[in-house]
Amino acid sequence: MEVKRREGVDELLQAQAHVWSHVCNFISSMSLKCAVQLGIPDIVHNHGHPITLSELAAKLPIASSKTKYVHRLMRLLVHSGFFAVETNGVEEGYVMTPSSKLLLKENTTGLTPFLLMMLDPFLVTPWHFLSAWFQKDEAMPPLQMAHGMNIWDYASRSPELSNPFNEAMASDTRIVMNILVKECGSIFQGLESLADVGGGIGMAAMIISEAFPYVKCTVLDLPHVVASSPKCINVDFVGGDMFQSIPPANAVFLKSILHDWSDEECVEILRRCKEAIPCAEEGGKVIIVDMVVNTKNSNHTIVGTQLFSDMLMMVDAVGKERDELEWHMMFKDAGFSHYKIMPVLGLRSVIEVYP
Ligand SMILES: C[S@@+](CC[C@H](N)C(=O)[O-])C[C@H]1O[C@@H](n2cnc3c(N)ncnc32)[C@H](O)[C@@H]1O
Repeated sequence: MEVKRREGVDELLQAQAHVWSHVCNFISSMSLKCAVQLGIPDIVHNHGHPITLSELAAKLPIASSKTKYVHRLMRLLVHSGFFAVETNGVEEGYVMTPSSKLLLKENTTGLTPFLLMMLDPFLVTPWHFLSAWFQKDEAMPPLQMAHGMNIWDYASRSPELSNPFNEAMASDTRIVMNILVKECGSIFQGLESLADVGGGIGMAAMIISEAFPYVKCTVLDLPHVVASSPKCINVDFVGGDMFQSIPPANAVFLKSILHDWSDEECVEILRRCKEAIPCAEEGGKVIIVDMVVNTKNSNHTIVGTQLFSDMLMMVDAVGKERDELEWHMMFKDAGFSHYKIMPVLGLRSVIEVYP
């Protein structure tokens, strides 16, 4: 039956669907978290060939009364691209996609620790404080309003936050660094030493020192992080404060650090970096891995995720994701002469900054 619409009705219904879709965005995240907690990616992966709904349900650690609900969860996860459906002409089965391959619990090279940390109530609760934060003349971020202290102080007192947080960052870093050392290895060539500032439990430093054994790597992080870092023969760990001093090295490496801080604080950190490295003639440089927001990028997923991350930095810390002009101004204010941006890491770019 062809329905003759009155003017504006289609637009209204589309707008309603748009609002519903965004109101329900959290359902996408929480359903994915549920799938990971139930081990669905591992079960589908280990099956080795398309797994039918009944085979999947039989392997899930769920109450038998819940078996009849599994297809609804899977239908959403197929729709959102985490699984695909294949048929052999007789029956249909679920298979992995590149995204669910990153969510295997047994796979140490995936993003499961990152997903579980980001969707932990500790990091979800502060979002309920965002509008109150906007209304108050208040410097502390929503996370601090929710939990009474900033994320670094909280982590220093709570291994229940610090350990999964460090693992979450390491899981992201493992993926990025393995690509970086293979695709852009020239960045590290010629260096004799490198200080990974805010280097967490040393994932980046370990990958760099394995790929370039002649680069002596030192990780600087807060004392409680260094205390929980694994021992590694080729990497030194130093507990300290990057606002005070940074171990001297040919290059300073900063991954996912500057986006945590305000422009003024970043300029302070960058000045400490400049003090730690040799002059331009002697090859000193700062290597940054962070986002360079470009809203004109035609990749809608990349831009949208960069904007999510920018909001995250506003809610959880006092930082932001920056566009090229914002980076340029900070480098200038910190006394650096020039820089080079390489947009080679998807969401993130590599920025080399020279004294
Ligand atoms: C977002 S994490 C990034 C970790 C690591 N660079 C990575 O990408 O995996 C920020 C790191 O900065 C560290 N940090 C925070 N304040 C610091 C300070 N004042 N001095 C040194 N490290 C600090 C945190 O402990 C944490 O490990």
